[in-house]
Amino acid sequence: MAKAQRQVQEKLKQVDIVFEIVDARVPESSRNPVLDQIIQQKPRLLILNKADLADPHKTAAWISTYEKAGQPAIKLDAQHKQRLPQIEKAARSILADKIERQKQRGIRNPLIKAMCIGIPNVGKSTVLNRLLSKNIAKTGNKPGVTKNQQWLKASDHLALLDTPGILWPKFDDPEVGTKLALTGAIAENIYHPDDVAVFALDFFRAQYTAAITKAYQLTAQDLTLPAPELLLALTKKWGLKDDYDRGSDRLIQEIRKGRLGRYTLDLPPKEADEA
Ligand code: G4P
Repeated sequence: MAKAQRQVQEKLKQVDIVFEIVDARVPESSRNPVLDQIIQQKPRLLILNKADLADPHKTAAWISTYEKAGQPAIKLDAQHKQRLPQIEKAARSILADKIERQKQRGIRNPLIKAMCIGIPNVGKSTVLNRLLSKNIAKTGNKPGVTKNQQWLKASDHLALLDTPGILWPKFDDPEVGTKLALTGAIAENIYHPDDVAVFALDFFRAQYTAAITKAYQLTAQDLTLPAPELLLALTKKWGLKDDYDRGSDRLIQEIRKGRLGRYTLDLPPKEADEA
């Protein structure tokens, strides 16, 4: 981890701005707090990607929270949009003073140098591909920065490192791990599916009651069952007898595929206080 951190730190010296990419369904859980230490005062645009899968009200609340804290943030759906002009626009706005100073020094077309950073699976490669209008290879999930990177031009005003910086997810908080598992950000062999399924049932019952009731035809009584019992009831309903693990897997896959609609697992601060 120290090596990965050093590699990212080294590259950061060369950029004007960092595009920190997170998953809009878990905007806090998919951040790595080490990035704050590494990049310190370096300008940063926070990109809440996969916004097409997230709860739009909560995404708006998160963006407003970040903006109020002085952190510029935008939502994004890199999967379905071919071009992402909003990123360059936001970067230009963040760096407006610097660009102005460069213009005053006679540089007519200042070039913004940027790099994408984030934990695995948040969509870094997808964002880069869209910005560079090409198909760079997926970069793998090993934290750090690939050697022999090169600068590629996204436009006349924006250059990007051709591979993103990869940070590790924060695993010290077990709930963070569970949320990342539910969104598919971490590998299947490092979590217990039944823990994730029980968390999901509790969360959706509390936050998205109508969606889960409708999807699984739950009765008022089902809604009051302890989550493990509800999981067992669903497992039986799906004809899996009492095979908790298969029931859990099915629930997790269905949530990932959007069977319960769009959702955000990290509650914006005001809602978290109320909850
Ligand atoms: P990474 O570099 O950060 O590790 O992530 P990558 O771009 O490889 O994206 C991880 C997965 O997330 C990919 O799906 C990608 O298609 C999907 N993805 C990226 N951005 C978005 C987005 O804005 N919305 C949605 N819905 N999905 C997004 P995959 O299942 O790994 O591959 P595939 O389904 O594209 O084949």
